[in-house]
Amino acid sequence: MMDLKAVEKAYKRYAGVYDFFFGAVFHPGRRMAVEHLHCKQGDRILEVGVGTGLSLPLYPDHVKVVGIDLSEPMLKLAREKVEREELSQVESLQLMNAQEMTFPDNSFDRVVAMYVASVVPDRKEFVREVQRVCRPGGIIIFLNHFASDSGLMEKVETAMTRFSGTLGFNPHLSLQEFLKETGFEADQIIPANLFGYWTLVLGENKKPKSSASETLSDSQTM
Ligand SMILES: C[S@@+](CC[C@H](N)C(=O)[O-])C[C@H]1O[C@@H](n2cnc3c(N)ncnc32)[C@H](O)[C@@H]1O
Repeated sequence: MMDLKAVEKAYKRYAGVYDFFFGAVFHPGRRMAVEHLHCKQGDRILEVGVGTGLSLPLYPDHVKVVGIDLSEPMLKLAREKVEREELSQVESLQLMNAQEMTFPDNSFDRVVAMYVASVVPDRKEFVREVQRVCRPGGIIIFLNHFASDSGLMEKVETAMTRFSGTLGFNPHLSLQEFLKETGFEADQIIPANLFGYWTLVLGENKKPKSSASETLSDSQTM
């Protein structure tokens, strides 16, 4: 079973070797996710499950990035990266549960979660929180591996599901299941990384708009 304690335990174990095993192989997807955020001057961006901060150098200088993660050992490595690489676009890195964030509503222009959707124990709360802290009309991106429909990979992923707690992720989360259980409305679904084995899911935040907020199409024309 996946729970917050199991996730913390798993990432305490992974932290020291994470960049070696999951750095280069996942990097095209990270780059693609940041590009699809269409960052504008002054945007405030939340990266949920920022991990060791591998994506942080990809953000342009003209935005402010806040990263959160549940794992202190992962965050420690992210903080060291920010200092070493002098990443001035990083506003803060905070220890926080994505299922229960402490930010006020509408705090961010864009929210992105890379390789996190199959790790968080409660996806419904996670997506609800992402939508709450993102302003109406802002961009939300989930980048993740979703389960294969058939073939050998489907069998392997199904067999691995029973080890979710130890692995620290659910290897058999389907995109349909994710969208159905969270109610997230995707505007774009794009294959990512090697063999398109991962998926970028992008949607405009469809909360009721306040008069002061701008739409995604407004922001793209600027
Ligand atoms: C597979 S790693 C991805 C790290 C990073 N986004 C990357 O691109 O490599 C998943 C991260 O999500 C974090 N995470 C899992 N559940 C979380 C939660 N409920 N709240 C905050 N972070 C969480 C884990 O601690 C871990 O650092």
